[in-house]
Amino acid sequence: MTVPADRPATPGPTDTEVRDLFGDSVQITPLADEGSMGRRITGADLSDPLTPRQARCLVDLLDTHSIISFPEQDTHQFDVHSLERLANHFGAVLPHPRNYANYGAPAAELELLPNDQKFSTRVNQAFPDELECLAGADSPGVYIVTNLIGSGPAMTPETVGGQHWHTDIEFEPVPLSTSMFFVQHVPTARETSQGTWVDNPPRADGFYHPESSAELAELREALPLNGETAYADTAAAYAALSPDEQEMLDAVKVRRRFRRDDEGWLMPIVHTNPRTGRKSLHSPVWASRGDTIAPVEVDGMSEDESRRFLDVMEQQCLRPEFRYDHVHAPGDVTIWSNFATLHTAPPSKKKVNSTADARLMYRISCKGEPSHALPRSDADEWIEANISPPYRSPISA
Ligand SMILES: [Fe+2]
Repeated sequence: MTVPADRPATPGPTDTEVRDLFGDSVQITPLADEGSMGRRITGADLSDPLTPRQARCLVDLLDTHSIISFPEQDTHQFDVHSLERLANHFGAVLPHPRNYANYGAPAAELELLPNDQKFSTRVNQAFPDELECLAGADSPGVYIVTNLIGSGPAMTPETVGGQHWHTDIEFEPVPLSTSMFFVQHVPTARETSQGTWVDNPPRADGFYHPESSAELAELREALPLNGETAYADTAAAYAALSPDEQEMLDAVKVRRRFRRDDEGWLMPIVHTNPRTGRKSLHSPVWASRGDTIAPVEVDGMSEDESRRFLDVMEQQCLRPEFRYDHVHAPGDVTIWSNFATLHTAPPSKKKVNSTADARLMYRISCKGEPSHALPRSDADEWIEANISPPYRSPISA
């Protein structure tokens, strides 16, 4: 159901409502400070299929809090199949192109990677007696976030820098709405000069635009060093603006496009959640574009003007009070709204020679409307237009 855009944000499900649906032992606590985004829901077992009322509750929680985390799922019960079923409640799962052998090849019948090249196979080769992927890791809808591919006891660890602040796949007409991690293994080694997993490696020149302010540069570069994912709350960043600033931003459109030569399409920079009316800044960053992805252009502004304008937005979002660094732990399921957050990947070790340095997480992303009941009922035409390669999770009624 959609609500008018000017409706006040709803408070979301109460703790009592969540306990009624998931059990009396469930505890709901803020991920960071009281009043900031994110909730930790402890004691909720997600291994069984959700009832429609449970699914509605989780969708409402995410709409309200932007990040919801469910610690300590039992990996004997909850595997990557379970994660993909859960993801289908939040949107249609987008398969990851890297799971295909010939994605992007013109007019070719898409083929999944052969077994010996699958990411799970390569992960399992690193420390075969110690760490293997969970069931379901081979799904086309799963992206394995890991430093185990190419790793093994003989490797020399090498640190790589973190990413730009960004939102995943914001450049399509129907952008990603929701992403989620399920964590199997995290690095436990702490041996650097700072007592962290990695030291902060220096950036290569040109990583960010040289004319961005020193204040913004400092906010961008302050990344967590123990493998945490850093998030910025773009709903709080919007809410903290003056009414005049909000009114001005409500009228701003940006041109989203994948490549510089693409015509792209105009989209509002302020996202209004269709279910709650809550507003947030949707991916208001300029510099988080790789070499092949075009910078965002604000409608009516030159490229330089767009960059300066969006640098101000990015600096607003990266204010420390809107920032949350999520510490990953084995068994965690963490779900975030791509409309209401920015995130960045942390500096990490790229190849490792010990499981104490291993990072193994599963990410699924989805698009479109939530579905309280499964299987989803997305029309073939919608899948064809918005899910590339076309894909439906194999979930039976
Ligand atoms: Fe990302």
